[in-house]
Amino acid sequence: MATATRALFMLFGATGDLAKRKLYPSIFNLFKKGYIDNDHFALIGTGRREWSDDTFRGVVMDSINDSADSDEQAQSFASHFYYMSHDVTKPEHYDALSDYANKLDAQYEINGNRIFYISMAPNFFGTVAKNLKVHNCLSDNGGFNRLIIEKPFGRDYDSAEELNNALGKSFNEDQVYRIDHYLGKEMVQNILALRFGNPLVEGIWNNKYIDNVQVTLSEKLGVEERAGYYDGAGALRDMIQNHTMQMLSILAMEQPISFRDVDVRREKIRALRSMHIYTPDEARENFVRGQYGSNGDQKDYRHEDNVPNDSTTETYVAGKVEFNNQRWANVPFYIRTGKMLTDKFTRIDIVFKKPLIDIFAAADNSESQLNNNVLTLFVDPVNKVVLHLNGKKAGQGMEMKPLDLTHVQNDEEKAATPEPYERLIHDAILGNATNFASWDEVSRAWEFADVIRHVWDTDQPDFPNYTPGSMGPKAADDLLSRDGRAWVFNSKK
Ligand SMILES: NC(=O)c1ccc[n+]([C@@H]2O[C@H](COP(=O)([O-])OP(=O)(O)OC[C@H]3O[C@@H](n4cnc5c(N)ncnc54)[C@H](OP(=O)(O)O)[C@@H]3O)[C@@H](O)[C@H]2O)c1
Repeated sequence: MATATRALFMLFGATGDLAKRKLYPSIFNLFKKGYIDNDHFALIGTGRREWSDDTFRGVVMDSINDSADSDEQAQSFASHFYYMSHDVTKPEHYDALSDYANKLDAQYEINGNRIFYISMAPNFFGTVAKNLKVHNCLSDNGGFNRLIIEKPFGRDYDSAEELNNALGKSFNEDQVYRIDHYLGKEMVQNILALRFGNPLVEGIWNNKYIDNVQVTLSEKLGVEERAGYYDGAGALRDMIQNHTMQMLSILAMEQPISFRDVDVRREKIRALRSMHIYTPDEARENFVRGQYGSNGDQKDYRHEDNVPNDSTTETYVAGKVEFNNQRWANVPFYIRTGKMLTDKFTRIDIVFKKPLIDIFAAADNSESQLNNNVLTLFVDPVNKVVLHLNGKKAGQGMEMKPLDLTHVQNDEEKAATPEPYERLIHDAILGNATNFASWDEVSRAWEFADVIRHVWDTDQPDFPNYTPGSMGPKAADDLLSRDGRAWVFNSKK
């Protein structure tokens, strides 16, 4: 049986979309699995809306409808939920919140363990954190106080630093859990297992054997209803600075001395510190942006609802990242993300070098039949690992053919895989920050992204420049072809 932890949650943004779609179902799963102590758990949800506890519990029950075993179970869970109408910009409201938290803490004998979750627009993060401290909402009787905050963490280095300083007035760095839900994905966590659990893999995880690494976060849809936010952000901020950088740090890091959060984070930070920050000219050379056009049925980005028809926001980014260290010298990490691409998937392709001498071609001086070995980690929507090797074609002679070793997550594994939010909330309850982004990681990623952003804000783009259903602009292919390489996943294949 799992060890259950006592906890009082205080959720800001309890009436919002994320809470309903992700947070309540995740907390419910933890409750069902016994990770949350049934007798010693309560959640205060807040929003400006004038909801009663019953209305709130009804919303919570609706959100867990599909996963509850019975009405009684859903009701028992929802009975731990309490609502307070609260405007986070009104300091006086926090006094009532503090009193209510103390009351529920005593009622459920929670011993002062508090998790504050801010699921609101980022401009409120600092205000909430400040008032929680000033109005004594943090416990001081030996329990823990942890703050979980949603993305985005700033929109550039300066705003991120300002936010971090604001949070730092109320919470220490080790109390802050910055959500990056990619870190909660099974295959992203599996990178550590595959690398550091297998000398076979880790032994060749370097520039002697690896030619290049490719990370693709591809979306099939356009901006949908997020246009209002997205047009002010763009793909660089929305996908590269956070999720992609996090995956890169795990791919590039050295082996930590243990699996403890401080040790894993230390190595991720070291990897990011060795990442080369481009000059503006290098950024122009090594990064490509795109914006989708129309293709008959699909309107172009500039004609989506809530998008200005002269928008220069990028819906696509591809780039080359370099790590200046012994392990990765001369190994480019190519990254790309975009909307309206061929399909929805996230994958990592580790492309290995070909043998220095091809004895199969040498026999009759024919062209090499050898492909690069590729280890592909499929992160989404399926969890799959494929190792592409060269093998012999059955029959006479020595004709080669591709030989793929594939591991696909089976139904049992799928059922055992928690949703990212479930896993991350559980980690926060346990005080394990491994799968959250630390300030050093976030700030370094902003340093990297800011140079590119600055260049793109200065130069005029030639948009639109890619067709919906493709894998992005031609310039993204050129980025690799000029290095004598190509994307492993290519829609034309
Ligand atoms: N939705 C997603 O899929 C998703 C995915 C990843 C990250 N996120 C991040 O998660 C956060 C929340 O997103 P969301 O989609 O849930 O937003 P949302 O649906 O717009 O919800 C915003 C919440 O903030 C509350 N709120 C707004 N102003 C307030 C105020 N002055 N005082 C108190 N409460 C206030 C709203 O409650 P009232 O209206 O009742 O005041 C509502 O509960 C954002 O940081 C977002 O970037 C969301």
